[in-house]
Amino acid sequence: MTDSAEAQKQSPLEERLIDLIKLKGPITIADYMADALGHPHDGYYMTQTAIGADGDFTTAPEISQIFGELIGLWLVEAWRSIGSPQAFNLIELGPGRGSLMADILRAARLRPEFVRSAQVWLLEQSGLLRHEQQKRLRGSEVKPLWADSFEDIPAAPSLIIANEFFDCLPIRQFKQVGGSWREQLVGLSDDSSSLELVLGKTPPPAEYDLPAAADCSEGDVFEKSFAAQEFLTDICSLFSEHKSAALIIDYGHMQSGLGDTLQAVRNHKYWPPLSAPGLADVTAHVDFEAISNTAIQQGAMAFGPVAQGVFLERLGLNLRVEMLCKGKSAADADLIRAGAARIAAPDQMGEIFKAVSITSPALGTPPGFSDL
Ligand SMILES: C[S@@+](CC[C@H](N)C(=O)[O-])C[C@H]1O[C@@H](n2cnc3c(N)ncnc32)[C@H](O)[C@@H]1O
Repeated sequence: MTDSAEAQKQSPLEERLIDLIKLKGPITIADYMADALGHPHDGYYMTQTAIGADGDFTTAPEISQIFGELIGLWLVEAWRSIGSPQAFNLIELGPGRGSLMADILRAARLRPEFVRSAQVWLLEQSGLLRHEQQKRLRGSEVKPLWADSFEDIPAAPSLIIANEFFDCLPIRQFKQVGGSWREQLVGLSDDSSSLELVLGKTPPPAEYDLPAAADCSEGDVFEKSFAAQEFLTDICSLFSEHKSAALIIDYGHMQSGLGDTLQAVRNHKYWPPLSAPGLADVTAHVDFEAISNTAIQQGAMAFGPVAQGVFLERLGLNLRVEMLCKGKSAADADLIRAGAARIAAPDQMGEIFKAVSITSPALGTPPGFSDL
């Protein structure tokens, strides 16, 4: 079946959502995303082989082991900066296939006390991926624990890593129509056979703090992730009690701005975001300015964003590439260099992906966030 024929076919989740919307009316894009990715029965991460060459997309830790190794060294330094606690949480949000955590732990063996002091927590919604993470980390010296939500993790000094997690968090969209904002919702086509964007009937409440209509043009779209704000607020309330640090890496924009970034990917190709939900990965660009502002409002410190390529080079990417290439055949060394180029070159993942660090107050600038 061709991609466009498949996009026409209803998925089980699409049928469920059509029935729901017939009954209750249009739903927010945030509710749509939450179900498309995490519906317990038909959500994408619950049912599909998402990540890797045989999945729908790939991620930096799956491309090059150097990504996780450099982050492992970053975390060891962050541990020192929070006072080298003898018991701390090492938390990964959305650990995918477990490759990033495996590479982090291998690199962190340089400081055995770090590994001994860490309680690894994996925040993962998908049973399929939990199983993969378990297999990947079997045999490592740590015994990871799994959490369904951030509140499940006991309060303690914490180091948090999130790679390509925040882009999964639901967004809402607002559109300029006739000089005011209207929310874009997921409703039904005229014959109720497919999902379609429709406009909410009333303007959103003033506390949503959308850009001034005078600064926008007809048809402009503004996105807001209340889910990301809530998540960060939870993280920051922990940070005010216990010295902690987080590293968030994702694709997105440095500054809040106008634009529709909702997208879906299937079989390594773009896919219509409202077609066959549950069979494609639906994400949106992360608004790094909103992330930093939320953290600062909650009393934490925010560093960055820094482009991923620059961040990795500051952490020693080139040195690590040369070390790994030593003694390898020319073909293997080429593969190592190609992987490093994919994660760091500006025309590949190096520019669109960015890193931001959120820390408890008064910890100093983390590695990679200043050009010294
Ligand atoms: C794009 S994958 C990234 C995987 C991994 N970090 C990597 O870089 O390869 C997103 C991950 O976040 C998880 N995830 C997404 N939304 C989640 C949520 N609300 N709660 C828990 N896990 C979630 C997915 O199941 C998956 O493991």
